[in-house]
Amino acid sequence: MERVDPVVTPWEVRGEVDYKELIEKFGVEPITEEIVKRLRKHSSGLHVLLRRGVFFSHREFDEWIDSYEKGVKVILYTGRGPSGNTHLGHMIPWMFTKYLQDTFKCDLYFQITDDEKFLFNPELSTDQVAEYTKGNLLDIIAVGFDPERTKIFTDLTYSKPLYNMAVRIAKHVTFSTAKATFGFSDSSNIGMVFFPAMQAAPCFLHQYLTSEDAHVLIPCAIDQEPYWRVSRDVAPKMGYRKPAGVYSKFIPGLGSGGKMSASLPDTAIFLSDTNEEAVRKVKNAFTGGQPTIREQKERGGNPDICVVYSYLYSLFDEDDRAVAETYSSCKGGGLICGECKERLARKVVAFLEDHRARREKAKDSVGKFLIKE
Ligand code: TYM
Repeated sequence: MERVDPVVTPWEVRGEVDYKELIEKFGVEPITEEIVKRLRKHSSGLHVLLRRGVFFSHREFDEWIDSYEKGVKVILYTGRGPSGNTHLGHMIPWMFTKYLQDTFKCDLYFQITDDEKFLFNPELSTDQVAEYTKGNLLDIIAVGFDPERTKIFTDLTYSKPLYNMAVRIAKHVTFSTAKATFGFSDSSNIGMVFFPAMQAAPCFLHQYLTSEDAHVLIPCAIDQEPYWRVSRDVAPKMGYRKPAGVYSKFIPGLGSGGKMSASLPDTAIFLSDTNEEAVRKVKNAFTGGQPTIREQKERGGNPDICVVYSYLYSLFDEDDRAVAETYSSCKGGGLICGECKERLARKVVAFLEDHRARREKAKDSVGKFLIKE
């Protein structure tokens, strides 16, 4: 069968993503042992998302660590487009960002692009986006960022500084670059065409607000990388350091193939799911199992294509020995899919319960995090 080229853009991820190919295509670097070693030096333990290769590529992450070691101010920047309820996939970059903030004790700028979601989604009104923003904000705070070092803002309520930065950026970006980078066409509305300047703006916000030199690192999934290509092009023209980036793979949906996405709610775990909903989704997940228990015992399963195993491996089972044991007993036919699903379901429920409690508490600290004009 002819292979269909996968698509990875900030708005669409389609097809079987080959991450090695993406490294070449986007011109980013793989995360090397050397970088891992340097991180180990600064942190008490390596985050599971790094150990298990979910964060797999970067741009000048090593130079950002150099800056930290030389005493240059280092900053983190990440974000969320509030187009619906938060799912587990969104938490991946945020959990890693918290780890980096804890490790490097640095400021974090967190952008909520309420303008983007209104402009790019014909079905969403500003009121709906505002509603999602409120809920997403609690999920973000619940991740556990340091309130003394974290500034969360939305484009529509913190417009003045962002717009001031964005116009300066926009002047350096031609329509032809925007079209080539983001695929805009004659039918794109003009807000969409300007928007990349709004997402680039926080790369330089700290410098703009404080007149201080700073080196920014952006943790996110690889779909957001096109924005940083533009931001890095304009940075020297504006007298700023180029932002560095560290990029994750996509956690898959619970079906067969594709990233976890809000548009496929039955295969996404939302943080707003009840325990029962989450358990039902896990129980219906795609596995690498054989059609019958007998065949499974005889021929073994295939953990390499199993979504349940990939969740345990990527995030939910930090114990290296246990995860290796799961892999080999699945292959050897000693483990049946039901047992594995039970195990994952228990871990997902524990994660959701913990998140719910933190989210409830977050309601009291919105004022500490959210900055407005
Ligand atoms: P959004 O809201 O689509 O996604 C928020 C973050 O989650 C990542 N992500 C995933 N990571 C792993 N697995 C998945 N299945 C998955 N799905 C989404 C995204 O890469 C993103 O990091 N335009 C942005 C908002 C934004 C932003 C930023 C993101 C503004 N400034 C700076 C990152 C960094 C957006 O709509 O993200």
